[in-house]
Amino acid sequence: MEAVRREVEGCRKCGLWRSRTNVVVGEGPLNAEVMLIGEAPGRIEDETGRPFVGPAGKLLDSLLREAGLGREEVYITNVVKCRPPGNRDPREEEIRACTPYLERQILVIRPKVIVALGRHSASWLYQRAGLRFTSITRERGAAKRIVLGSPLLGDFVKAYLVPTLHPASALYNPSYRGLILEDLMLAAKLLGRG
Ligand code: URA
Ligand code: SF4
Repeated sequence: MEAVRREVEGCRKCGLWRSRTNVVVGEGPLNAEVMLIGEAPGRIEDETGRPFVGPAGKLLDSLLREAGLGREEVYITNVVKCRPPGNRDPREEEIRACTPYLERQILVIRPKVIVALGRHSASWLYQRAGLRFTSITRERGAAKRIVLGSPLLGDFVKAYLVPTLHPASALYNPSYRGLILEDLMLAAKLLGRG
């Protein structure tokens, strides 16, 4: 993970390096059973270099607590490590340039459950796992068994994938809050809790 951190800190593989203040590599214990994967850093994340510390992060923290998962026990990162200007969606080529870092992080952490926060994260994970993605509202609410990495090379991870809505969407649409909570409770249940 330290090698990934060093590389990301000097990375210029896509244009997002130009507008970043800090890269946001991710944080949490390296032996975490749950990995949360968001989209891209926002303004406060770019300023602090930490994932999910802005308004969406505050909401995520309380939903995690309600689901019986401590923020300090999960590993949190994003599909892209630098903030897109004005919080626009990350572009296809930016996701392609950045996700080799995420793949390496997944192989280091070896999570039992991966929670995909939002459609960009979920659709990337579905694609890597060879699954067809429809839409986040259709896919959420159920877990999938996935294999990531390279079984041929012997370096792979088997995990449950739990797709859910992005916590930022629940800031604008409070009815989504309960749906994200349901999905986080499903993640806890897959770990044998709750
Ligand atoms: N939204 C994300 O997807 N990631 C963050 O780190 C913060 C907000
Ligand atoms: Fe590198 Fe990813 Fe940042 Fe692009 S977003 S510059 S690929 S670390």
